[in-house]
Amino acid sequence: MLCAMRILTGLQPSGKLHVGNYFGAIEPAVRLQEMGEAFYFIADYHAMTSSQDPAALRDNVRELAVDFLGCGLDPERAVFFRQSAVPEVNELAWILSTVCPMGLLAKCHSYKDKVAQGIAANHGLFAYPVLMAADILLYDSNQVPVGRDQKQHLEVTRDIAVKLNETFGDGTVVLPEPIIREDTAVIVGLDGRKMSKSYGNTLPIFGEEKPLKNLIMKITTDSTAVDEPKPVANSTILALYKLYASEADYAAMVADHERGGIGYGVFKKRLADAYWDYYAPMRERRSEVLADPGYVDRVLSAGAARAREEAAKTLDRVRHAVGLR
Ligand code: ADP
Ligand code: TRP
Repeated sequence: MLCAMRILTGLQPSGKLHVGNYFGAIEPAVRLQEMGEAFYFIADYHAMTSSQDPAALRDNVRELAVDFLGCGLDPERAVFFRQSAVPEVNELAWILSTVCPMGLLAKCHSYKDKVAQGIAANHGLFAYPVLMAADILLYDSNQVPVGRDQKQHLEVTRDIAVKLNETFGDGTVVLPEPIIREDTAVIVGLDGRKMSKSYGNTLPIFGEEKPLKNLIMKITTDSTAVDEPKPVANSTILALYKLYASEADYAAMVADHERGGIGYGVFKKRLADAYWDYYAPMRERRSEVLADPGYVDRVLSAGAARAREEAAKTLDRVRHAVGLR
């Protein structure tokens, strides 16, 4: 059994990557790939629980792969693959489902929220956390970087892992730890709520300059007059600016808020420039990735082969533990 750092995370291919996804999941994943063995995947099976559009799924998988590579995922360091390229995950999910109490799934916020949003309550959506547990346990992962909204899913994974080990013997699977960066656990969206595709308040990280900067100009602000001091607490502009600005520039913007005399439009412009500059190297890398048409497929198929090797080892151990072999 391993003791090194085995880092794993998955992202659903469900539309354009936004600043919340970037700081909640991508940036930590890219930083952590230097620190251990990393396994990063595109959760295409999971995406099927909330959208059934084959063409969109294909496009979104491709786009996420390009974007993730653009953001600095290094396939020489991290194993990068599509979840469905490792069908072993389904067998593990089945095994886990036989020790997972219904009550554990029934209390998941994510399931309840999605049903409240009007997504049909199919079995896949209900069993979503079991497949996610299988994703994590299949690779003996011990560190899982995610945004705070995935914390409960990690708790479910740990509960299932403990149950499996209690039932079939210690060491059947490895207990994973979530990595949740507190300062970026919840990135605010353009309207001040949590940034999320489901709220339609996202700021994508890749796209054309003008429309993206225009989105920043639409950030909701209060009606404080230009001359007046502006509130610093709960400021969406400041919260986003902090992600991109140096400490000195951030402190200067705070001081400018407190002093008064500068309108929100100016602050938004500063934020828009800092945001745009920050992603410049990633846009460049992304263009390089796009310039080589076979690159993404080569990376994903090499990643899948490597992931399957690892998956086969774990699955063999689990099959023996539960009596399937
Ligand atoms: P969305 O809410 O837009 O549908 P996802 O649920 O697909 O986003 O999230 C993908 C990843 O990005 C997850 O790890 C999640 O925790 C992270 N994430 C999403 N939105 C935010 C946010 N506003 N702040 C921090 N992390 C986020
Ligand atoms: N549920 C995660 C999300 O919506 C995606 C995901 C699937 C995942 N399997 C995972 C994240 C395993 C971390 C580990 O963002």
